[in-house]
Amino acid sequence: MKKSKIQNPKSKTPKICVFDSGLGGLTVVRSIRERLPGAEILYLADTAHAPYGEKTHDEIRRYSLEIARFFVEEQKADALVVACNTATSAAIAALREHYPDLPIVGTEPGIKPALSATQTGKIGVMATPATLAGEKYQALVDRLCGMQEVELFERACPGLVERIEAGEIDAPETRAMLEGWLSPMRSAGVDTIVLGCTHYPIAAEAIRQVMEVPVRLIETGEAIARRLATLLGEQPAEAPGHLRIFATGPIDEAAVERIVGEKVVIDRIDR
Ligand code: DGL
Repeated sequence: MKKSKIQNPKSKTPKICVFDSGLGGLTVVRSIRERLPGAEILYLADTAHAPYGEKTHDEIRRYSLEIARFFVEEQKADALVVACNTATSAAIAALREHYPDLPIVGTEPGIKPALSATQTGKIGVMATPATLAGEKYQALVDRLCGMQEVELFERACPGLVERIEAGEIDAPETRAMLEGWLSPMRSAGVDTIVLGCTHYPIAAEAIRQVMEVPVRLIETGEAIARRLATLLGEQPAEAPGHLRIFATGPIDEAAVERIVGEKVVIDRIDR
């Protein structure tokens, strides 16, 4: 059997297991549900260990492998989505090595769509410190940016994930942080910003307001959902799919409801 295809052909609605450090990966879940409305989705928010972006790659790899073990052994996952740029950077190779038969989709900053979108050739990249420091990001940039004349404005945004998790996107301190990261982009004529962390689309409105000029924000949820549909096959939606959410620590339930568009029971699990 081909490794990239789903392993359990009898399962009519495959169980798609998705994780991130917190709320961010729900922006990816939103896109998966638009693309595969009948899919059964299990989501794990590893809030006990958030933020990942300021941890070492070894720590992030350990958390990711434990979550994958939970999904594969206890929940019988048919596919795994790493809805986190940081965990993809630190752990996707280890996850694929441990689960060679499981379809695994990761998340990478959308440099490629940004190259197609930019008119000024000035592209902003916002991501966590761990993502920008990772070899994977550097390899992506080296592979894609050699062919086109572009200038990248890379900004690690430490603290932004915590503020999003805490529901403090519009607080003056968060605005000041955004101003510090974005004003050099504004002055330089950046017209496209890669949201290289799945949490950042939740702050998209604040980013637009701070930029003041029209800017295209690139997120990757749709691309991930497309990739998943290719791996699993387009699923006919006989009934709306079920979403189940686990959290390893506290999570803002109102924010979850806002992002996924419905009230979902959240199961607390200890990891
Ligand atoms: N949402 C994650 C990402 O895409 C990072 C969140 C964190 O730093 O915990 O990188």
